[in-house]
Amino acid sequence: MSAMTAPILETRRLTVRFGGLVALDGVDVAVGPGETLGVIGPNGSGKTTFFNALTGLYTPAAGEIVFGGRRVTGLEAHAIARLGIARTFQASRLCLALSVFDNILIGMHARRTTGLADSVVRRWRFRREMGAALERAAHLLALFSRELPGRGFEPVGQLPQIDRRRVEICRALAAGPTLLLLDEPSAGMNPEETAELMRDLQIVRAEMPGLSVIIIEHDMFVIEGVSGRVVAFNYGRKIAEGSFAAVAAHEEVRQAYLGTERARA
Ligand SMILES: Nc1ncnc2c1ncn2[C@@H]1O[C@H](COP(=O)(O)OP(=O)(O)OP(=O)(O)O)[C@@H](O)[C@H]1O
Ligand SMILES: [Mg+2]
Repeated sequence: MSAMTAPILETRRLTVRFGGLVALDGVDVAVGPGETLGVIGPNGSGKTTFFNALTGLYTPAAGEIVFGGRRVTGLEAHAIARLGIARTFQASRLCLALSVFDNILIGMHARRTTGLADSVVRRWRFRREMGAALERAAHLLALFSRELPGRGFEPVGQLPQIDRRRVEICRALAAGPTLLLLDEPSAGMNPEETAELMRDLQIVRAEMPGLSVIIIEHDMFVIEGVSGRVVAFNYGRKIAEGSFAAVAAHEEVRQAYLGTERARA
């Protein structure tokens, strides 16, 4: 992030505790407009906790979250979503029995202007909004694949893994966020699917140049390929920050990963 631009997101000494466990320990992270920040760290280092704090699922024990120049610490999840932070989850939260379009429309709910009562009373307005929503969903799907919009009425459960991940990303994008959080999008993918995912992320970058992205990944190839800057966590602390090359070569980062390798062996 250039020193001249104001960050879209900034955390200051962000801390999350679960009983005696400090899952996030005084973390300072800033993301600029249009920037893609990679987050790495061994299992249990606090990466998902960081996202859960940013999206209002966990209430920080201490510290601050400033988004779009506004203090959002302690706001509820729906309020934060409405302000423009969207995410995908480490374990898919798609409703497999519902159609592709239904799954994406769930994501648009965060930004919809008509309430439920409104929709019943003024059906025409509801129908017009639904038409626009379907069009937007189809447009988002078309960014990733020519075939996907045509499968919009099929249950998500019938799609291959890579397309399901695309639907999840479209659902997050459907809310029109300014900050997109991706929690291990390549999880469960083979190398070909991972390469496609990286291409998809490059498309998002090109289509939405103002969008800021934070991506958690275990796949270093993905992190290196998509992030401009990387932060590394260990035991809830930020232990390194900088270019991928600098962070990957950082002594404490190498030790952190060595430690987990040894623990597994
Ligand atoms: N809701 C919770 N209640 C209690 N402990 C939690 C909760 N959520 C996370 N933790 C703990 O906080 C620590 C950080 O967990 P977190 O899920 O953030 O790790 P992570 O870096 O995302 O790991 P992974 O790479 O395995 O996804 C872990 O010790 C975890 O057990
Ligand atoms: Mg996690």
